[in-house]
Amino acid sequence: MAKVITVLGSTNIDKVVQVPRFGASGETLHTPNHITEAMGGKGLNQGVASARSGAKTNMITKVGMAFDVSKNMNVDNLMTDHVMRSDNEETGQAYITVSEETGDNIIYIYGGANADMTAADVREHVEAIEESDFVIAQLETPIETVVEAFKIAHEHGVKTILNPAPMPEVGGLPEELLSLTDVIVPNEHETFLLTGVEVSDEKSMIHNAVYYFEHGIDTVIITIGSNGSFYMRDNGEKGIVPAFKTKAVDTTAAGDTFIGAMTTRLENDLSNLPDAMRYGSAASSVTVSRAGAQPSIPVETEVSAILAAHAE
Ligand code: RIB
Ligand code: NA
Repeated sequence: MAKVITVLGSTNIDKVVQVPRFGASGETLHTPNHITEAMGGKGLNQGVASARSGAKTNMITKVGMAFDVSKNMNVDNLMTDHVMRSDNEETGQAYITVSEETGDNIIYIYGGANADMTAADVREHVEAIEESDFVIAQLETPIETVVEAFKIAHEHGVKTILNPAPMPEVGGLPEELLSLTDVIVPNEHETFLLTGVEVSDEKSMIHNAVYYFEHGIDTVIITIGSNGSFYMRDNGEKGIVPAFKTKAVDTTAAGDTFIGAMTTRLENDLSNLPDAMRYGSAASSVTVSRAGAQPSIPVETEVSAILAAHAE
Protein backbone atom coordinates (compact mmCIF):
# COMPACT_ATOMS: atom_id res chain seq x y z
CA MET A 1 0.00 0.00 0.00
CA ALA A 2 1.25 3.45 -0.85
CA LYS A 3 2.45 5.54 2.05
CA VAL A 4 0.66 8.52 3.54
CA ILE A 5 3.02 11.30 4.60
CA THR A 6 2.26 14.61 6.30
CA VAL A 7 4.66 17.48 5.81
CA LEU A 8 4.37 20.36 8.28
CA GLY A 9 6.31 23.34 7.02
CA SER A 10 6.91 26.43 4.98
CA THR A 11 5.71 27.65 1.63
CA ASN A 12 7.86 30.32 -0.01
CA ILE A 13 7.84 32.19 -3.25
CA ASP A 14 11.47 31.98 -4.39
CA LYS A 15 13.00 34.83 -6.35
CA VAL A 16 16.06 33.33 -7.95
CA VAL A 17 18.99 34.80 -9.84
CA GLN A 18 21.89 32.89 -11.35
CA VAL A 19 25.11 34.84 -10.84
CA PRO A 20 28.55 34.28 -12.38
CA ARG A 21 29.99 34.04 -8.87
CA PHE A 22 29.00 35.19 -5.38
CA GLY A 23 29.78 38.83 -4.75
CA ALA A 24 31.67 40.25 -1.80
CA SER A 25 30.21 42.80 0.60
CA GLY A 26 29.88 46.19 -1.12
CA GLU A 27 30.50 44.75 -4.60
CA THR A 28 28.16 45.21 -7.60
CA LEU A 29 28.11 42.43 -10.19
CA HIS A 30 26.38 42.07 -13.56
CA THR A 31 24.41 38.96 -14.37
CA PRO A 32 23.15 38.08 -17.85
CA ASN A 33 20.23 36.19 -16.33
CA HIS A 34 16.70 37.30 -15.58
CA ILE A 35 15.41 37.07 -12.05
CA THR A 36 12.90 34.22 -12.06
CA GLU A 37 10.15 33.28 -9.66
CA ALA A 38 9.28 29.73 -8.63
CA MET A 39 7.59 27.97 -5.74
CA GLY A 40 9.79 26.79 -2.90
CA GLY A 41 10.05 26.66 0.86
CA LYS A 42 11.63 23.69 2.57
CA GLY A 43 8.22 22.43 3.65
CA LEU A 44 6.56 22.61 0.26
CA ASN A 45 9.67 21.24 -1.49
CA GLN A 46 9.67 18.18 0.78
CA GLY A 47 5.93 17.77 0.25
CA VAL A 48 6.28 17.97 -3.52
CA ALA A 49 9.17 15.49 -3.50
CA SER A 50 7.03 13.05 -1.52
CA ALA A 51 3.95 13.56 -3.71
CA ARG A 52 5.90 13.19 -6.96
CA SER A 53 7.31 9.93 -5.66
CA GLY A 54 3.79 8.60 -5.24
CA ALA A 55 2.86 9.05 -1.57
CA LYS A 56 -0.42 10.70 -0.63
CA THR A 57 1.03 13.84 0.95
CA ASN A 58 -0.87 16.07 3.37
CA MET A 59 0.63 19.56 3.34
CA ILE A 60 0.15 21.51 6.57
CA THR A 61 1.32 25.03 5.76
CA LYS A 62 0.20 28.66 5.96
CA VAL A 63 0.14 31.17 3.11
CA GLY A 64 -1.02 34.74 2.52
CA MET A 65 -4.52 35.73 1.43
CA ALA A 66 -3.48 36.44 -2.16
CA PHE A 67 -1.82 33.05 -2.69
CA ASP A 68 -3.31 30.90 -5.47
CA VAL A 69 -3.30 27.36 -4.03
CA SER A 70 -4.86 25.67 -7.06
CA LYS A 71 -2.20 27.12 -9.35
CA ASN A 72 0.90 26.99 -7.14
CA MET A 73 0.28 23.68 -5.38
CA ASN A 74 -1.16 21.78 -8.28
CA VAL A 75 0.88 18.59 -7.89
CA ASP A 76 -0.50 15.04 -8.19
CA ASN A 77 -0.90 13.40 -4.75
CA LEU A 78 -0.32 16.68 -2.91
CA MET A 79 -3.34 17.24 -0.62
CA THR A 80 -4.04 20.93 -0.06
CA ASP A 81 -7.00 20.62 2.34
CA HIS A 82 -4.70 21.56 5.23
CA VAL A 83 -3.33 24.77 3.74
CA MET A 84 -4.13 27.68 6.07
CA ARG A 85 -4.33 31.42 5.38
CA SER A 86 -2.80 34.20 7.43
CA ASP A 87 -4.98 37.28 7.99
CA ASN A 88 -2.05 39.57 8.57
CA GLU A 89 1.00 38.22 6.74
CA GLU A 90 1.84 37.62 3.11
CA THR A 91 3.21 34.34 1.76
CA GLY A 92 6.81 33.60 2.79
CA GLN A 93 9.55 34.71 0.43
CA ALA A 94 13.07 33.62 -0.35
CA TYR A 95 15.77 35.54 -2.19
CA ILE A 96 18.20 33.10 -3.71
CA THR A 97 21.44 33.62 -5.59
CA VAL A 98 22.85 30.60 -7.39
CA SER A 99 26.49 30.54 -8.45
CA GLU A 100 26.97 29.46 -12.06
CA GLU A 101 30.46 28.32 -11.03
CA THR A 102 29.34 25.69 -8.54
CA GLY A 103 25.51 25.49 -8.48
CA ASP A 104 25.66 26.43 -4.78
CA ASN A 105 23.25 28.97 -3.37
CA ILE A 106 22.85 31.66 -0.75
CA ILE A 107 19.30 32.04 0.56
CA TYR A 108 17.65 34.82 2.58
CA ILE A 109 14.12 34.06 3.78
CA TYR A 110 11.30 36.26 4.98
CA GLY A 111 8.97 34.11 7.07
CA GLY A 112 5.67 35.95 6.48
CA ALA A 113 2.72 33.59 6.86
CA ASN A 114 5.06 30.73 7.84
CA ALA A 115 6.13 32.65 10.94
CA ASP A 116 2.47 33.29 11.73
CA MET A 117 1.63 29.59 12.23
CA THR A 118 0.78 28.55 15.81
CA ALA A 119 0.56 25.29 17.75
CA ALA A 120 -3.22 25.80 17.91
CA ASP A 121 -3.29 25.97 14.09
CA VAL A 122 -1.55 22.59 13.93
CA ARG A 123 -4.04 21.02 16.40
CA GLU A 124 -6.78 21.67 13.84
CA HIS A 125 -5.18 19.16 11.51
CA VAL A 126 -4.92 16.13 13.76
CA GLU A 127 -6.67 13.93 11.18
CA ALA A 128 -3.93 14.59 8.59
CA ILE A 129 -1.23 13.39 10.98
CA GLU A 130 -3.29 10.56 12.39
CA GLU A 131 -3.67 8.81 9.02
CA SER A 132 0.04 9.13 8.17
CA ASP A 133 2.97 6.73 8.24
CA PHE A 134 5.42 9.59 8.79
CA VAL A 135 5.38 13.28 9.68
CA ILE A 136 8.21 15.40 8.31
CA ALA A 137 9.03 18.92 9.55
CA GLN A 138 11.76 21.57 9.20
CA LEU A 139 12.41 24.82 11.06
CA GLU A 140 10.94 27.49 8.76
CA THR A 141 7.77 27.58 10.88
CA PRO A 142 7.92 28.35 14.64
CA ILE A 143 9.44 25.54 16.73
CA GLU A 144 6.21 25.25 18.77
CA THR A 145 4.38 24.15 15.56
CA VAL A 146 6.86 21.33 15.02
CA VAL A 147 6.66 20.26 18.67
CA GLU A 148 2.86 20.18 18.42
CA ALA A 149 2.87 18.14 15.20
CA PHE A 150 5.33 15.64 16.67
CA LYS A 151 3.29 15.34 19.87
CA ILE A 152 0.18 14.54 17.84
CA ALA A 153 2.19 12.07 15.78
CA HIS A 154 3.41 10.19 18.84
CA GLU A 155 -0.10 10.18 20.33
CA HIS A 156 -1.10 8.21 17.23
CA GLY A 157 1.97 6.01 16.81
CA VAL A 158 3.24 7.97 13.79
CA LYS A 159 7.02 8.30 13.21
CA THR A 160 8.58 11.76 13.11
CA ILE A 161 11.36 13.03 10.85
CA LEU A 162 13.07 16.34 11.63
CA ASN A 163 15.15 18.32 9.16
CA PRO A 164 16.67 20.96 11.49
CA ALA A 165 16.93 23.61 8.77
CA PRO A 166 17.62 26.37 9.09
CA MET A 167 19.20 25.81 12.51
CA PRO A 168 18.93 28.77 14.88
CA GLU A 169 22.43 30.34 15.05
CA VAL A 170 22.30 30.28 18.84
CA GLY A 171 20.41 28.48 21.55
CA GLY A 172 20.11 25.04 19.96
CA LEU A 173 16.80 23.17 19.99
CA PRO A 174 14.47 22.46 22.90
CA GLU A 175 15.06 19.14 24.60
CA GLU A 176 11.37 18.34 24.14
CA LEU A 177 11.67 18.56 20.35
CA LEU A 178 14.66 16.22 20.27
CA SER A 179 12.87 13.69 22.47
CA LEU A 180 9.86 13.73 20.11
CA THR A 181 12.06 13.11 17.05
CA ASP A 182 12.53 9.58 15.67
CA VAL A 183 14.76 10.42 12.71
CA ILE A 184 16.91 13.55 12.43
CA VAL A 185 18.32 14.66 9.07
CA PRO A 186 20.77 17.60 9.42
CA ASN A 187 23.48 18.64 6.97
CA GLU A 188 27.07 19.10 8.15
CA HIS A 189 26.58 22.72 9.14
CA GLU A 190 23.33 22.10 11.02
CA THR A 191 24.68 19.14 12.93
CA PHE A 192 27.71 21.18 13.99
CA LEU A 193 25.40 23.91 15.36
CA LEU A 194 23.51 21.23 17.32
CA THR A 195 26.32 19.06 18.62
CA GLY A 196 29.37 21.31 18.50
CA VAL A 197 31.25 18.50 16.76
CA GLU A 198 32.60 19.31 13.31
CA VAL A 199 32.02 16.67 10.62
CA SER A 200 35.34 15.62 9.12
CA ASP A 201 35.68 11.84 9.12
CA GLU A 202 33.65 8.77 10.09
CA LYS A 203 34.65 9.05 13.72
CA SER A 204 33.27 12.59 13.92
CA MET A 205 30.00 11.48 12.34
CA ILE A 206 29.63 8.67 14.88
CA HIS A 207 30.38 11.23 17.57
CA ASN A 208 27.54 13.40 16.20
CA ALA A 209 25.16 10.43 16.06
CA VAL A 210 25.88 9.49 19.68
CA TYR A 211 24.87 13.00 20.74
CA TYR A 212 21.43 12.41 19.20
CA PHE A 213 21.10 8.92 20.72
CA GLU A 214 21.74 10.49 24.13
CA HIS A 215 18.88 12.94 23.44
CA GLY A 216 16.39 10.21 22.61
CA ILE A 217 16.62 10.15 18.80
CA ASP A 218 17.31 6.66 17.48
CA THR A 219 18.05 7.26 13.82
CA VAL A 220 20.46 9.84 12.41
CA ILE A 221 21.14 10.79 8.80
CA ILE A 222 23.80 13.44 8.11
CA THR A 223 23.76 14.71 4.53
CA ILE A 224 27.25 15.52 3.29
CA GLY A 225 26.55 17.13 -0.12
CA SER A 226 28.30 15.49 -3.06
CA ASN A 227 29.77 12.94 -0.63
CA GLY A 228 26.32 11.43 -0.08
CA SER A 229 24.87 10.76 3.33
CA PHE A 230 25.89 9.00 6.51
CA TYR A 231 23.42 7.06 8.61
CA MET A 232 23.56 5.47 12.01
CA ARG A 233 20.89 3.80 14.13
CA ASP A 234 21.08 3.29 17.86
CA ASN A 235 21.37 -0.47 17.28
CA GLY A 236 24.81 0.29 15.83
CA GLU A 237 23.95 -0.13 12.12
CA LYS A 238 25.75 2.51 10.10
CA GLY A 239 27.07 3.31 6.65
CA ILE A 240 27.43 5.85 3.88
CA VAL A 241 25.10 6.03 0.90
CA PRO A 242 27.00 7.72 -1.94
CA ALA A 243 25.55 10.57 -4.01
CA PHE A 244 24.79 9.99 -7.69
CA LYS A 245 27.20 12.03 -9.81
CA THR A 246 25.65 14.80 -11.86
CA LYS A 247 26.53 18.26 -13.16
CA ALA A 248 25.39 20.72 -10.49
CA VAL A 249 23.28 23.44 -12.08
CA ASP A 250 21.35 24.52 -8.98
CA THR A 251 21.51 22.66 -5.69
CA THR A 252 18.40 24.46 -4.33
CA ALA A 253 15.98 21.90 -2.80
CA ALA A 254 18.46 19.00 -3.11
CA GLY A 255 18.27 18.24 0.60
CA ASP A 256 14.50 18.69 0.58
CA THR A 257 14.14 16.26 -2.30
CA PHE A 258 16.33 13.69 -0.56
CA ILE A 259 14.14 13.75 2.57
CA GLY A 260 10.75 13.82 0.85
CA ALA A 261 11.58 11.15 -1.71
CA MET A 262 13.42 8.87 0.75
CA THR A 263 10.49 8.84 3.15
CA THR A 264 8.14 7.49 0.45
CA ARG A 265 10.33 4.38 0.26
CA LEU A 266 10.90 3.90 4.00
CA GLU A 267 9.36 0.97 5.86
CA ASN A 268 7.63 2.05 9.08
CA ASP A 269 10.20 0.11 11.14
CA LEU A 270 13.04 1.80 9.15
CA SER A 271 14.47 -1.65 8.39
CA ASN A 272 15.32 -0.66 4.79
CA LEU A 273 16.91 2.70 5.61
CA PRO A 274 19.93 2.47 3.23
CA ASP A 275 17.71 1.43 0.30
CA ALA A 276 15.30 4.27 0.96
CA MET A 277 18.25 6.68 1.21
CA ARG A 278 19.55 5.43 -2.13
CA TYR A 279 16.20 6.28 -3.72
CA GLY A 280 16.30 9.75 -2.07
CA SER A 281 19.83 10.24 -3.29
CA ALA A 282 18.88 9.42 -6.90
CA ALA A 283 15.94 11.84 -6.66
CA SER A 284 18.09 14.63 -5.30
CA SER A 285 20.66 14.17 -8.10
CA VAL A 286 17.89 15.17 -10.54
CA THR A 287 17.02 18.24 -8.47
CA VAL A 288 20.67 19.33 -8.48
CA SER A 289 20.85 19.05 -12.27
CA ARG A 290 17.96 21.46 -12.88
CA ALA A 291 17.19 25.09 -12.00
CA GLY A 292 14.78 26.22 -9.29
CA ALA A 293 13.25 24.50 -6.29
CA GLN A 294 9.82 22.99 -6.99
CA PRO A 295 10.25 22.89 -10.81
CA SER A 296 13.42 20.80 -10.44
CA ILE A 297 11.97 18.04 -8.21
CA PRO A 298 11.58 14.76 -10.16
CA VAL A 299 8.69 12.33 -10.50
CA GLU A 300 8.97 8.64 -9.60
CA THR A 301 9.67 7.39 -13.15
CA GLU A 302 12.72 9.67 -13.48
CA VAL A 303 14.13 8.39 -10.21
CA SER A 304 13.50 4.75 -11.10
CA ALA A 305 15.27 5.26 -14.44
CA ILE A 306 18.41 6.45 -12.65
CA LEU A 307 18.35 3.54 -10.24
CA ALA A 308 17.82 1.09 -13.13
CA ALA A 309 20.74 2.62 -15.08
CA HIS A 310 23.02 2.16 -12.05
CA ALA A 311 21.87 -1.40 -11.45
CA GLU A 312 23.21 -2.55 -14.84
O1 RIB B 1 15.77 24.35 0.78
C1 RIB B 1 15.53 25.23 -0.27
C2 RIB B 1 14.48 26.24 0.10
O2 RIB B 1 14.95 27.02 1.16
C3 RIB B 1 14.09 27.24 -0.98
O3 RIB B 1 13.06 26.78 -1.82
C4 RIB B 1 13.73 28.49 -0.17
O4 RIB B 1 12.37 28.83 -0.25
C5 RIB B 1 14.17 28.19 1.26
O5 RIB B 1 13.11 27.87 2.05
NA1 NA C 1 17.41 22.62 -8.19
